[in-house]
Amino acid sequence: EFIYDIRGIKDLEKELKRKLNIKEVIIVPGNLDIEDYVFNDISKATSKLINQLVNENDIIGVTGGNTMAAVAEGVKQQSKDKNITVVPARGGLGRRVESQANTIAAKLANKLKGNYQMLHVSDTLSKEILKSIMEDPEISKITELIKQVNLLIFGIGRADKMAKRRELPEDIVQKLTESRAVAEAFGFYFNIDGEIVYEMKTIGIQFSDFINIPNAIGVAGGTGKAEAIYAITKLKKDMILVTDEGATREILENF
Ligand code: G3H
Repeated sequence: EFIYDIRGIKDLEKELKRKLNIKEVIIVPGNLDIEDYVFNDISKATSKLINQLVNENDIIGVTGGNTMAAVAEGVKQQSKDKNITVVPARGGLGRRVESQANTIAAKLANKLKGNYQMLHVSDTLSKEILKSIMEDPEISKITELIKQVNLLIFGIGRADKMAKRRELPEDIVQKLTESRAVAEAFGFYFNIDGEIVYEMKTIGIQFSDFINIPNAIGVAGGTGKAEAIYAITKLKKDMILVTDEGATREILENF
């Protein structure tokens, strides 16, 4: 059922783009929930886009997660130095070093022959600690860079799964359920209409920064992420989406 020729995929892209009403949609065949190889294709498609969009002196922001880790892994090694800087859009999270935004930023920077900056801050700190950390000159240098990101590549998560990964306390999880959160991106949780229902106060990209970024590429696949993807595309009509056939069919059929 998931085998399509290129023509079929092109039609699906048009249909999904119309449905979501965003700038551009790239679809790769398959369903990430069933087959891991789809990560490679998503990565290749994103790599192509990055090469098309990246300009000299750009500041590229990246988020964490398994999808973004695969993207960085699959990006083609460039030979021309364009003086690009890659920054993590958010602080660190969870245990796997491979899927940290810092790791992904470093890897992508190396692939693009650019520089990177690290954000050595956990994404789950108390307000008081955050406040004092933000006064640190090293940290504020990075947060200034994050504000200047002109190309953002970000993962899209399901609210329920991300709440677990972030080990959010029970009262917050309940709040997310009550407010019908379905999607998570860069620490913000959204309902199906793309309204913010919860925000993790942390260092890194803010919603207003996100809205103003000229090039934003959301990357997510798999049927299970359909609702999350649908919600996120409500936020920013000039965004680009890289997804798979599994998520696409689910969105087209059920939303
Ligand atoms: O914020 C959402 C996450 O980046 C999605 O993570 O790619 O591991 O599903 P994932």
